[in-house]
Amino acid sequence: MPMKIRSDVALTFDDVLLVPRRSDVRSRKQVDTSSYLTKQIRLKIPIVSANMDTVTETRMAIAMARQGGIGILHRFMTIPQQVEMVERVKRAESMIVDNPITIAASATVQQARELMAEREVGGLVVVSDEGKLLGMVTTRDVLLAVNGDAPVSQVMTPRERLVVAGKEETLESAREKLYQHRIEKLPLVDENDRVVGLITAQDIVKIQEHPNATKDARGRLMVGVAVGARGEDVERAQACVEAGADVVVIDIAHGHSDLVLDMLRTLKKKLSVPIIAGNVATAEGVRDLAEAGADAVKVGVGAGSICITRVVTGFGIPQLTAILECAREGQRLGVPIIADGGVRNSGDLVKALAAGASTVMLGSALAGTDESPGASVVREGRRYKVVRGMASLTANIQRKAIEKGEISEEDWGEVVPEGVEAIVPARGTVVDILHQFVGGLRSGLSYAGAHTIEELWKNAEFVPITQAGYRESGAHDVSKI
Ligand code: XMP
Repeated sequence: MPMKIRSDVALTFDDVLLVPRRSDVRSRKQVDTSSYLTKQIRLKIPIVSANMDTVTETRMAIAMARQGGIGILHRFMTIPQQVEMVERVKRAESMIVDNPITIAASATVQQARELMAEREVGGLVVVSDEGKLLGMVTTRDVLLAVNGDAPVSQVMTPRERLVVAGKEETLESAREKLYQHRIEKLPLVDENDRVVGLITAQDIVKIQEHPNATKDARGRLMVGVAVGARGEDVERAQACVEAGADVVVIDIAHGHSDLVLDMLRTLKKKLSVPIIAGNVATAEGVRDLAEAGADAVKVGVGAGSICITRVVTGFGIPQLTAILECAREGQRLGVPIIADGGVRNSGDLVKALAAGASTVMLGSALAGTDESPGASVVREGRRYKVVRGMASLTANIQRKAIEKGEISEEDWGEVVPEGVEAIVPARGTVVDILHQFVGGLRSGLSYAGAHTIEELWKNAEFVPITQAGYRESGAHDVSKI
């Protein structure tokens, strides 16, 4: 009977340390933490929030992109719900509002108030039937007006008193105009005075606040979406990309499968955005997905904090070995590797990158933040948030409920969970957590004598450690306070 057993022991993060090297890095600020998410998209920080329903929805995706990473919206919702989340991320910030909300000069002040409240904007562009600029009306104009029945034309700032610019306006010039004239909004018009956009002071402030933000060509935050590998997932991917999604992740627990390869080939034909596929844990997996067109490959089988795949199925490869093996192949083929699962702290992040990953996906490390979906719970006076595996019992049942509209007794019995439900301590904002991760990464680059993540790949040398070495690595022989 043919039987195979690998002779090398597979390792994970706690089994190794990195060997310190001579370094010419004099300041942590000197190092560059940018890295490729896909062949096409380079992030300022190599961190991706996981497509889990307790990790990434709109708020998390916005926060991740503002900090220079990216969020992948999970897929355990209807297509319209996922599309709406994409739209909300894309609307969160941009230099130019392409379709500003407009109102007719003959509309009443009350109608303007209602429109502003409904669309959550502080100003409306007043236009003629042909779309020509007639004026601007702001919250202040309508809130202070006594007569709600008066036409907007009576309270607006008329065209002749407005400062305007053309569609090609630059950020610097717009900032200058807004500042010089002490105004909040700058309408953009074409040669016929038709409104073609709007720049607001608020948006420019946001751009200045987040200089590392991950942006598309139009200055909007980037966002990814997860899809499955079944028929309706093609429609899901297309709808999300039409709404502005910048990258699609085909996310299947066993990504080295014909199902995923077929889906990948189909999506590569239909979509123009980069496609990430996974998860795999071997060089063969990376090669097959790369050949089918993957623009990045996600690596990790059973490594996640909430995963029990290895217990339930007996399959998986400890994560550090999986990354080493996959990254070697990924680098040979020019396909970035995303290390997904098991990263608990910045030390693990540095080890995953040093092993050859280009970016790292975080699940439970981000699940306790304010930006993760779901309310927090209090237990014995401490605040926690829920995190659950996407193959857990409750996640499986919820998915069935979305698909079928209802669930029966048998549905519960049919599930064989490969993930668990759990809680993690509430941890404050994503900004705080990423600050710790990126700070640790900067130090790590310095210990490796590396200025970039690509240099870290070259300089890294791992040393396997014993239990005693592991014990020595954490705080020890002191009482924690
Ligand atoms: P961390 O350790 O960052 O891992 O929380 C997040 C990753 O775990 C994977 N994931 C699962 N794996 N059963 C699994 O075997 C599950 O129910 C499950 N849910 C999530 C996924 O790759 C995620 O990014």
